[in-house]
Amino acid sequence: MTLDEFLEACRRLADEAPARIALAASPAEFADVRTQLVGRKQGRLADLMTQLATLPPDARRDAGRAINDVKSTIEQLLDEREASVRAATRADGALDLSMPSRRRWKGSLHPVTLVIDEIAEIFRELGFTIALGPEAETEFYNFTALNFPADHPAMELHDTLYLGEDTLLRTHTSPVQVRTLQQYAPPVRILAPGNVYRRDFFDATHAPSFMQLEGLAIDEGISFVDLKATLSEFARRFYGSTRRVRFGPSYFPFVEPGAQMDVEVDLGDGKGVRWVEILGCGMVHPNVLSAAGVDSERYTGWAFGMGPARIAMSRHGIPDIRVLYDSDVRFLEQFAR
Ligand code: PHE
Repeated sequence: MTLDEFLEACRRLADEAPARIALAASPAEFADVRTQLVGRKQGRLADLMTQLATLPPDARRDAGRAINDVKSTIEQLLDEREASVRAATRADGALDLSMPSRRRWKGSLHPVTLVIDEIAEIFRELGFTIALGPEAETEFYNFTALNFPADHPAMELHDTLYLGEDTLLRTHTSPVQVRTLQQYAPPVRILAPGNVYRRDFFDATHAPSFMQLEGLAIDEGISFVDLKATLSEFARRFYGSTRRVRFGPSYFPFVEPGAQMDVEVDLGDGKGVRWVEILGCGMVHPNVLSAAGVDSERYTGWAFGMGPARIAMSRHGIPDIRVLYDSDVRFLEQFAR
């Protein structure tokens, strides 16, 4: 065979193939046509391949290109035809149009994750960046540097899960305050989300592991006015401008004065709006600044901590914290967007 004869044979095959493929109406006929055209042993293409090997070496490049073109054209036609032959066959009987459709599952982010993302976005707009710290901590970062007196009851074993003599699972995200201040000079504005652990029973209102969101703002000349203004602005953006906010006194060893912020929210239980405590906050205690190596004469600031699970619960009227841990799709899919 000469190169010209070979190219002619390719052309003929390319001309014939579409009609033969189009004529295959059933899956069986289609399988026959496929074998005749591109079957590995006796197909038309296989014959041409055998011929290709007999051509003189300087002709094989052109011949090879021609046969590859034919091959991909035919395979594409076959694939298209196969799909429509299958569809037609199914419509002929196998497809029962009266069958109920299959349930579609849609994934969603966890409601607590959604709350954290939303809060992080608001604080990002207010100039805060995300900071993270380890979940396994030392007594120094979790308690001592945060101005806990040595005999503070929270330090006793019944609240804290100890990993060793001096290591523990952090009971709050406040250690990130100290770690951040050790690493970065003020001005500092951070939001620190993360898991915390407490030796608590797992019941409707407690979980031994849960998320916290810590906030910290340190600079020269920061006062309680900044705290109130920033956290009120956060509440306006998160809950809407019609919700009232109030601050009241509270105690945490690492802030002075310490406060809590309540927001009027509707828990969706038909009892209307009521005050719900959203977060603990206060002016960072000078002892904390000193423990972190920050000049407490020059710098002041404030911090807050909140529980996004409780916020998600009050927002959606979820009565039992345990559903947040069940991974039950029937619960989670309600939050799909
Ligand atoms: N760390 C406190 C807690 O776990 C919350 C808090 C953080 C309070 C920062 C004041 C300032 O409850």
